[in-house]
Amino acid sequence: MTVTITHEGAIAVVTIDNPPVNALSQALRQALVEAVSSIDVDETVDAVVLICTGRTFIAGADVNEFGKPPVPPHLPEVVTGIENAEKPWIAAMHGSALGGGLEVALGCAYRVAAASANFGLPEVKLGIVPGAGGTVRLPRLIGAPATIDMVTSGTAIGAGKARDLGLVDAVIEGDLLPAAITFAGEVSRKPRPQPIRERSVPPVESDFWARTEKAVATKAKREVAPLRALACIRTASEADFLTATAFERETFLELRGSAQAAALRHIFFAERAAPRPPEVADVAPHDIGSAAVIGGGTMGAGIVAALRDAGLPVVLVERDATAVERGLANVGQIFENSVKRGRISPEIAAERMAGVTGTGDYGALSDTDLVIEAVFEDLAVKRAVFAQLSRVCRADAILATNTSYLDPNEIGEGLAHPERFLGLHFFSPAHVMKLLEIVPTRTTALPVLASGFALARLLGKIPVHAGICDGFIGNRILKVTRAQAERLLLSGATPVTVDAAMRAFGLPMGPFEAQDLGGLDIAAFQRKAARGRGEAPFAPVADRLCAMGRVGQKSNGGWYDYQPGDRTPQPSSAVAAIITQEAAGLTQRTWDETSIADAIILPMVNEAARLLEEGIALRAADIDLVKIHGYGFPRWRGGPMHYAQARGLAEVVTVLDRLATEGLADPACDGLRLAAERDSFMAAADSVDEVP
Ligand code: 3HC
Ligand code: NAI
Repeated sequence: MTVTITHEGAIAVVTIDNPPVNALSQALRQALVEAVSSIDVDETVDAVVLICTGRTFIAGADVNEFGKPPVPPHLPEVVTGIENAEKPWIAAMHGSALGGGLEVALGCAYRVAAASANFGLPEVKLGIVPGAGGTVRLPRLIGAPATIDMVTSGTAIGAGKARDLGLVDAVIEGDLLPAAITFAGEVSRKPRPQPIRERSVPPVESDFWARTEKAVATKAKREVAPLRALACIRTASEADFLTATAFERETFLELRGSAQAAALRHIFFAERAAPRPPEVADVAPHDIGSAAVIGGGTMGAGIVAALRDAGLPVVLVERDATAVERGLANVGQIFENSVKRGRISPEIAAERMAGVTGTGDYGALSDTDLVIEAVFEDLAVKRAVFAQLSRVCRADAILATNTSYLDPNEIGEGLAHPERFLGLHFFSPAHVMKLLEIVPTRTTALPVLASGFALARLLGKIPVHAGICDGFIGNRILKVTRAQAERLLLSGATPVTVDAAMRAFGLPMGPFEAQDLGGLDIAAFQRKAARGRGEAPFAPVADRLCAMGRVGQKSNGGWYDYQPGDRTPQPSSAVAAIITQEAAGLTQRTWDETSIADAIILPMVNEAARLLEEGIALRAADIDLVKIHGYGFPRWRGGPMHYAQARGLAEVVTVLDRLATEGLADPACDGLRLAAERDSFMAAADSVDEVP
């Protein structure tokens, strides 16, 4: 970390170089305090430009320090020091000015920015509120409503909007530093603007706070930080500067030590570690400049859209001319929907579509870098596709299957150059869902595995390394969850009570509502296949519902009844009767929300521990990412593994064993018992929590 001071005539330039993102570590805070002191007494200086090297302006406080006691100088002192400096400081921002970085800029007398810069107070995403005057100074600069939008969502805004709001004084199109120096020279000859701390917050309508509190609470659900941030902004609007900053700091320090903040920090680091796992750390991936997708159905069309969104030209191969037309129409529909939702312009949609070539001819793939297969879930069909690809593709082209449940080792049998083959398991809708399970076969070469992770980075996905088993990581855990949910039904719970309890836990939907939405038929098909392999999947009620044709919303009935055209689940007397029959002779007990959540979540943890034991999952944090990004597990709980660890693994084992004695769950597996003894799922070397 270095902070250097140079001089351009009467302008001092303070340059921060603290890779990777110029985060405000203790050393940087100290250096800034010292820079203020030394420039204050330098009579040759009229104004100061604060600028950063590398990819970004200061991206915030150093999140690595959050688990430890705060060490002075604290950030509020740094910001106040700059604000009270003898000479005006001008923040010259590029990249991202986030959190503490924006707070430092708010201490400056002026703010100028590159046109590509963005600005935000994303603290709520880490379970905290801004801690260095962000909620107090920002409303004094841009008003309470705009501040609330930024702070309670944590979403960054671009330079144009920042200028319109008055957050930045000038947007610079060319070179930032010389323009900032010129700007500094000009403003140094003018009277200094009133410091933000001395300004007042523009008044709002009388019902503003009540309305806003309701709206923020609804959106935040059980996340604590957004409402607490709102309380800080309200205090900043109604109280004097010092009272408001004291209130903000107190809230910041309290939340910094909270369980939600620890969970969100865990996910912050897990997400950043995921795209570059140690197993391919030093392995160069293949270049991927073109792609093809085989099959233009639900998944294929979504994968094409994801590849196009990342700028790759894509060939879509289907069975025949009619299927090609249908596949292209599926892709077109995705872009059209994005236009309707205001995500992209009609011009961008047309350009994305123009980059897709539909064909029935595999010959078009002779020079394609990456081919992803997304045809029917049928071993013979998939093998036939790969036989064709073997014939036409370059020997170094990467070939991938999007299979959900088939064994990629079997799909790839007989493939020429099997080292270039792997599983890339996307989640539906593939252009939206962030999770990508990367599944090497026993022959996949390391550079090909590394290419899977490089592709995820290109597509903006969260990649997770998954070994081969029935369902990989995510769907294997899902099977256990569904079986558990049925066990509960046979012992006194109902679809309504189970779904309500899981929503109360923080999931967007309960297991029965979710099955009705997705359809019960796919899982029934998987169970049939499993029975064919001699397994005995447990789904007595679901099996009977499927036999009756009750496969979910699409058949106007599944676990619930539905009126045609209405997706509101209504408790079903037919389903209740089936449950009563299946439960005959079994002990019935009472269930409350906590005991239901335990009986669903802890077996999930148990299965996940088995996945770690078997080496299917490599890191507990990977499982957290799978559940959060593929299955809606609440982010603020940090994923099931973090949840279990925070709760205490010994207690998790105790509860599981108790459920097991009642016949309501499997007993804790050896891997979980061992983890409980060590009080950790992870070997230290694997733990993303250990990032320094
Ligand atoms: N503290 C410490 N490390 C950080 C960090 C931070 N605030 N932000 C990013 N990093 C690290 C990442 O862990 C990663 O490390 P690695 O290379 O060892 O894995 C590296 O910087 C690069 O991060 P990304 O992969 O995310 O890089 P991108 O270029 O994709 O994105 C970014 C850059 C937009 C700045 C993104 O990193 C980001 O959004 N960072 C978080 C910013 C944030 O949350 N700031 C608020 C912090 S809280 C705060 O400021 C409290 C204050 O009010 C008191
Ligand atoms: P789908 O039935 O919607 O689409 C399959 C497409 O493949 C059809 O358009 C069909 O015409 C085409 N096709 C079949 N044989 C072909 C061939 N020989 N050559 C070219 N095209 C061919 O199926 P869906 O849901 O898209 O699934 C595809 C694959 O993705 C399956 O392996 C499935 O298990 C997997 N998957 C599905 C998910 C889902 O939620 N639907 C999630 C993740 C993976």
